[in-house]
Amino acid sequence: MKKIVDLISEDIKQAFVLKGYDEKYGVVTLSNRPDLCQYQCNGAMAAAKAYKKAPITIAQEIVSLLQENSKIKEITAIMPGFININLSDEFLAEYVNDMRKNKDFGCDKESEPKTVIIDYGGPNIAKPLHVGHMRSAIIGESLKRIFNFMGNEAIGDVHLGDWGTPMGLVIAELKRRKPELIYFDESFSGEYPNEAPFTISELEDIYPAASAYSKENPDFLEEAKQITFLMQNGHRGYIAIWKHMQEVSVTDLKKIYDNLNVSFELWKKESDAQPYITDMVEYLKANNYARISDGALVVDVKEETDTKEFPPCMILKSDGATLYSTTDLATIVERVKLFDPDHIIYITDKRQELHFEIIFRCAKKTKLVKENTKLQFIGFGTMNGKDGKPFKTRDGGVLRLEYLIKLVTDEVYRKIMENRSMEEDEAREVASRVGLAALKYGDLSNQASKDYVFDLERFTSFEGNTGPYILYTIVRIKSILEKFKDTGKTINKGMDILPASSQVERDLMLQITRFSDMVHSAYEEQAPHRICQYIYDLADKFSSFYHDTKVISEDNSEDRQASLILMITLVEEILLTAINLLGFEAPERM
Ligand code: ARG
Repeated sequence: MKKIVDLISEDIKQAFVLKGYDEKYGVVTLSNRPDLCQYQCNGAMAAAKAYKKAPITIAQEIVSLLQENSKIKEITAIMPGFININLSDEFLAEYVNDMRKNKDFGCDKESEPKTVIIDYGGPNIAKPLHVGHMRSAIIGESLKRIFNFMGNEAIGDVHLGDWGTPMGLVIAELKRRKPELIYFDESFSGEYPNEAPFTISELEDIYPAASAYSKENPDFLEEAKQITFLMQNGHRGYIAIWKHMQEVSVTDLKKIYDNLNVSFELWKKESDAQPYITDMVEYLKANNYARISDGALVVDVKEETDTKEFPPCMILKSDGATLYSTTDLATIVERVKLFDPDHIIYITDKRQELHFEIIFRCAKKTKLVKENTKLQFIGFGTMNGKDGKPFKTRDGGVLRLEYLIKLVTDEVYRKIMENRSMEEDEAREVASRVGLAALKYGDLSNQASKDYVFDLERFTSFEGNTGPYILYTIVRIKSILEKFKDTGKTINKGMDILPASSQVERDLMLQITRFSDMVHSAYEEQAPHRICQYIYDLADKFSSFYHDTKVISEDNSEDRQASLILMITLVEEILLTAINLLGFEAPERM
């Protein structure tokens, strides 16, 4: 379906042409003074310059042509040359009814669907997840859903970190704690045990300990690096431990992501790119893309137009070791081979921006990807505490993801129990849904690149621009629909929503009609916060409508009753679709 703003633009453009002006002046936009009108066209001002006329004269000419237009209730020329437009209620209702009858509310899909790999989550085995990983998971999951909604094939890849020095650190620490383990017996040539020599909580304790210890003991760090090197070159015992780390971590990670309502099509690991490295290095050398610099193999990626320093892309260190950049390039090779993607999106902390810029330049320059393959980095800001510093636990430690989820869920639970009577079990269940919405909405309602403040009180509030408020609106609609059902009446879905009979109805309908605009901008700008803005407005318009309008009332005629029920059902469906794009769900009650 065409967007409503485009439909009006078409008519205004036609009027400009009829009066002898270029059609480009007829572009209509949302009004920036919603108190005065719904839509506006500012083209007369620009046309005035081109045609050397007074803007108001042009505006009046256009307006005079559109007085009888059936889409328009009111169109006026305002000094110095604005054209203010209000739509007719019949047109508005017709549009809303078309939305109801079309799939996905008439939202047009991508005309050339793409295969898109979204690299998000990015946890590291053996290391606890932190808030940055949570942001990546939340933003990535939402973008994946938006891309799929628009008709693309989006493939989420968790891209597990499993290959760097942290592995060596964990193994070295394990050796320090339990030197008697069979894995450290160099003469052992039998089968290693199936069972891991540690649990997830031991494993999570080992890494921070090892990391801290290595800072004070250079010898230990050296040993860890040596172990990493041996592991990467196939040391049997270390590889066996590494596999145990993977199993234990992945089981735990799947549980955590499940709780976050995040899922991945691919559970690929950094190490999966290893088999591609040798050939890739050969290729880069053979085609003279790479050169030796201080013993290291590098590819220059500087461009003439650069205003800042661009270091070369490191392919191999002077000792032949591979780096984060090597793995990321080889992963691109692997992805091209397995999926031939049109677009790859990486979602991490903003601080990795330079790394990815270098990787992208290198991949393009060396033709590891086709010229038109889109490589995109989406960097997000930090989640801060109220003091403006990165959020920490009360004792100052790094914040673990489970802890954060629990914090939010407990607060929501407290609120539910404070206000209402609900069975403990149900309240727990509802709190986990609402808590997740609070957390995700709190994150996604900000532009991803910005830092934001984690404010437990505000995020979990049932009022204002919050996840719980959106869910509360949905639950409220559900309960009206429930009440309606209890009256024993049914609605014929073939009926239509009637033209608005009050300002609050009109406002609600207008907001409904903007759904596909919103999805398109969320998609084009890769910006879930657009969805949040839209549903917050929609929930707000619904709330005004609800306070003003008796939906369940004997006074309503049958048609009016049906119209109101159909309208709030539509609002519910839109809200449910939108929160699904954000990655959370609504409870039945709250
Ligand atoms: N594991 C990395 C980290 O914790 C993020 C990985 C992002 N993806 C990638 N292809 N480099 O920072």
